[in-house]
Amino acid sequence: MMFRGKEMIVWSLNNYLGLANHSEVRKADAQGAADYGLAYPMGARMMSGNSNLHEQLEAELAAFEAKEDSILLNFGYQGMVSIIDTLCSRHDVIIYDAESHACIIDGLRLHPGHRYVFKHNDLDDCEKQLQRATVLIEKQKAGGILVITEGVFGMAGDQGKLKEIAAMKSKYEFRLLVDDAHGFGTLGKTGAGAGEEQGCQNEIDLYFSTFAKSMASIGAFVAGDKKIIDYIRYNIRSQIFAKSLPMPLVVGNLKRLELVRNHPEYKEKLWSNAMKLQSGLKERGFDIGNTDSVVTPVYMDGGVEEATQMVMDLRENYGVFASIVVYPVIPKGHIIYRLIPSAAHTDEDIEITLNAFSDTKKKLDAGAYKAEAIPDMAEYSGKRFDYMIDKPKNK
Ligand SMILES: Cc1ncc(COP(=O)(O)O)c(C=O)c1O
Repeated sequence: MMFRGKEMIVWSLNNYLGLANHSEVRKADAQGAADYGLAYPMGARMMSGNSNLHEQLEAELAAFEAKEDSILLNFGYQGMVSIIDTLCSRHDVIIYDAESHACIIDGLRLHPGHRYVFKHNDLDDCEKQLQRATVLIEKQKAGGILVITEGVFGMAGDQGKLKEIAAMKSKYEFRLLVDDAHGFGTLGKTGAGAGEEQGCQNEIDLYFSTFAKSMASIGAFVAGDKKIIDYIRYNIRSQIFAKSLPMPLVVGNLKRLELVRNHPEYKEKLWSNAMKLQSGLKERGFDIGNTDSVVTPVYMDGGVEEATQMVMDLRENYGVFASIVVYPVIPKGHIIYRLIPSAAHTDEDIEITLNAFSDTKKKLDAGAYKAEAIPDMAEYSGKRFDYMIDKPKNK
């Protein structure tokens, strides 16, 4: 990526499989735009917004996820909000992980019934909430229970305990909805995600993912039994009352899915890079928490100002572009780097990054970032903000 005219090693993009700048993807995106433009199809799916290619993509996604059917969503965030709204009425109880993504939390805001939260990945607490919900449903003599969690939690990189939660179906009656935004394409033997990885894909009633991560695109889908997907198809307000996914995105997503399915070497390269990065960080004494995915958090102590200086030093003096999370998202005094490896990273990228992290951490510990700004930002004022993802080197 070019940032202010300088080539950067970037760890902030969810381009897991390196498809963003893949030549076949670029060709398919361009061909889709040339063949159809952005206008088509004109209208919502149920009106005039359907096409054979939309249906083909849905069928291929369902087959990939070992589900009967799937439905396309224009965006992951908006889609999840609307799925929750569609599925649950006032008698239903939703049980969800405390660290759920904003799209789940915002979907819950539309829910007129009860919602019970369980402590992050805490199975005992999850079961406690299932007991509470079961009592309520029996008392009401109406409604059902929907448990919502994630395949991979995108900040800390730990997988949701899908297998264990699914096993509770032997004791409690509920349906399981999984947001696998970060597991799709990165986990499981075929890349079908966290359900496949944990051997419980059949127990996931609704498997949801966005195209914004491994597919490096826009759009999303949810897959499950035909009966449930049909119900969603004819009731989901964000799709019924909105123009459908434009043709170039459908064409481009078909190509991406073909590559995800047929090129396991991209996932292997991603994991090899992630392992090199994670073991390199651990060997250098960094705390990367308990990630069991490719998402690589790095935990440090420091103030907001120090974090800002450090991330700028890393960027301006080492050519490493990484994103940080600080107060008020996390408690004061803590810094989390969130590194996202990609199949497109090279060994050299990883080596440079590890060395840059060692250097800047030493400076952080020595208090060097407590002083005035390191790079002179005045130098950049008035310059064009040249920010382009995966800018081809020859352009
Ligand atoms: C867990 C999770 N769910 C949903 C989304 C939203 O997806 P989209 O970018 O397609 O709206 C994201 C993306 O940030 C995500 O990380």
